[in-house]
Amino acid sequence: MSDKVKVLQDKIAAAMKGGGDKRIEAQHKKGKLTARERLHFLLDEGTFEEIGMLVTHRATDFGLDKEVYLGDGVVTGYGRINGRLVYVFSQDFTVFGGSLSETHAEKIVKIMDLAMKNGAPIIGLNDSGGARIQEGVVSLGGYADIFYRNTLASGVIPQISAIMGPCAGGAVYSPAITDFIMMVENTSYMFVTGPNVVKTVTHEEVTSEELGGAMTHATKSGVTHFTAANEIECLQNIRALVSYMPQNCEEDAPVMPYESTDELRPSLNTIIPENPNQPYDIREVIEHVIDENSFMEVHKNFADNIVVGFARLAGRSVGIVANQPAVLAGVLDIHASTKAARFVRFCDSFNIPLLVFEDVPGFLPGTDQEWNAIITNGAKLLYAFCEATVPRITVITRKAYGGAYDVMNSKHIGADMNFAWPTAEIAVMGAKGAAEIIFKNEIAAAEDRNAKWKEKEMEYTEKFANPYQAAARGYVDEVILPEQTRKKLIAAFAMLENKADVLPRKKHGNIPL
Ligand code: HXC
Repeated sequence: MSDKVKVLQDKIAAAMKGGGDKRIEAQHKKGKLTARERLHFLLDEGTFEEIGMLVTHRATDFGLDKEVYLGDGVVTGYGRINGRLVYVFSQDFTVFGGSLSETHAEKIVKIMDLAMKNGAPIIGLNDSGGARIQEGVVSLGGYADIFYRNTLASGVIPQISAIMGPCAGGAVYSPAITDFIMMVENTSYMFVTGPNVVKTVTHEEVTSEELGGAMTHATKSGVTHFTAANEIECLQNIRALVSYMPQNCEEDAPVMPYESTDELRPSLNTIIPENPNQPYDIREVIEHVIDENSFMEVHKNFADNIVVGFARLAGRSVGIVANQPAVLAGVLDIHASTKAARFVRFCDSFNIPLLVFEDVPGFLPGTDQEWNAIITNGAKLLYAFCEATVPRITVITRKAYGGAYDVMNSKHIGADMNFAWPTAEIAVMGAKGAAEIIFKNEIAAAEDRNAKWKEKEMEYTEKFANPYQAAARGYVDEVILPEQTRKKLIAAFAMLENKADVLPRKKHGNIPL
C-alpha cells in the first residue's frame, strides 16, 4: 500500500511543479504568477478542487513523446468565490508556453460542460502561446470545441476571461465571446497576429504593447472591459465582478445586507449647473444615488461619453447606463452605442435591472460617424433597450434630445418608470438649432437678425426646455426633486421586483451587427 501511496504522491508533486522550477522562476521574473498561484488568489481559501491533474498529451511528433507534463499546461477544476460555486481553468505558461493541445482543450471543455449543467459561472485565466504548434489541426479543433461551448453558454452562465500573458492567434476568440475580459498592464497582450506578421504584411513597426497591450485594448479597441495594475488586482476584480451577478440566467443576483436610513440626498439639488451648456460629471450623480462605494465601472477608459457599470441600490444589483455630459457633452457616437448596447444585453441576460441617467444632446454628426455606420451601431443600443425585459428605469437629469431621447430607455421602448428632474429639457433638438429652422423666414426678414433669432430661441426654450410637456403626456411618470432620486428609485425597483415580461416567440432576434 505504502508504495502505491508513494506513486500517487510523486505524481501530485510532479504536477504541482508544472514545467519545472526553472520555468517557474522565469515566470516570476516576468512579474507573473503561476497558474496555481493565481487560483489561490482568485478563490476562497482551501476551496479549490482540481479535475484532471493527471491528464497528459497524446502527441508523439517532434519529440513530444519524450516531453510529457502532468496536467498538460492547464489547471482545471472548481472552487468558491465568497462562498458561491465557480468553475475555473488556469493556463500554465511553464508547460509548452500554456499552448493548447488536444488534451488541454478537452480539460477546458470538461469544465465548461460541468459549468453549464450545474449553472455556475466559468472563469478562464489565459496565459498561452496559442495552438500547440507540434499538434497541428487537432489543436485547432480543440479551440473550435471551446468557441462552440462559449457561444452555447452565452446568456446561460456568466463567462469571464482574464488575460494574464500572451494571447495570440485564434486564442483571442474564446475570450472575445465571453462576457467580460480583464487584462493586466504590461504583462498581457491580445492580438490576432503579432508584430512580426504585422510588419511583413502592412510594413508597420509596432511593439506588442502598442499593438495589443492592456491600455491599447482599454482605450482604443474596447476589447478589454477592465485593466489592472498587477495580477492580484486583476484577480480581486474578478471576485468583485461576480458579486453583482447571479449564478445563471434562471437566478437573481445576490442581495447584500442593507439597512434603510434617510434616503434623501440634498447634495444632488446643486449638481446641475445654471448654464445648460456647462458640463458636470455624471459619476457624481451616480455616486450620490447608489449604495456607498458600490460602483464597479465597466469599460472605464473607452467611449467616456457614456458611463456603464454595476452598482447596488438598497443592497440589490443594478446595471447603470449614463450619458456623460463632461465628455463630448454626452453625445451618442458609435463607440458609446456599442459599449452601452453590450452592457444592456449582459444585464438583461442575467436579470440585472437597468438604471439609466439621461443627459444627451443627440447623436454625433459628421462623415466619420456616418461612414463608419453610426446608423447601424446606434441601432444596436436601440435594439438592446427595446428587447430588454428586466425592470428598467430612466432618470432624465437634463437634455433628452432627438432620436437619443427615444434610444435612451424611453417609455415608448419599454422603460417601466421614467423620472425627470426639473432641469430636464425634452425636445426634438436644442433651442438654437430649432429656432433657426422653424423661424427661418421670420429671422431672415428681421432688421436685427440676431435679436430675432435670440427671441425665437427663447420662445422655443420656454416651450420645450422643461419636462412638463412630456409629463403631461405621461412620457415622464413623475417630475422629482433631485434629492428624492435615491428614495424614488428604491421604491420603484421594489415595485418592479416581480416584473414578468416576455418577448414574442422566435428563434432569436437579428440585432443589427
Ligand atoms: C508549442 C510553445 C508555443 C506553442 C510557446 N511555446 N508557444 N510550444 N506551441 N504555440 C513554448 C516555447 O517553445 C518555450 O518552450 C516555452 O513555450 C516558452 O516560450 P518562449 O518563446 O520561450 O517565451 P516568450 O519569450 O515569453 O514568448 C512567448 C510567446 C512565443 C510570445 C507566446 O513563445 C510565441 O510567439 N509563441 C508562438 C505563438 C504562436 O504563433 N502561436 C500559434 C498561434 S496560431 P521551452 O521548452 O523553451 O520552455 C493559433 C491558431 C489558433 O493559435 C486558431 C484557432 C482558431
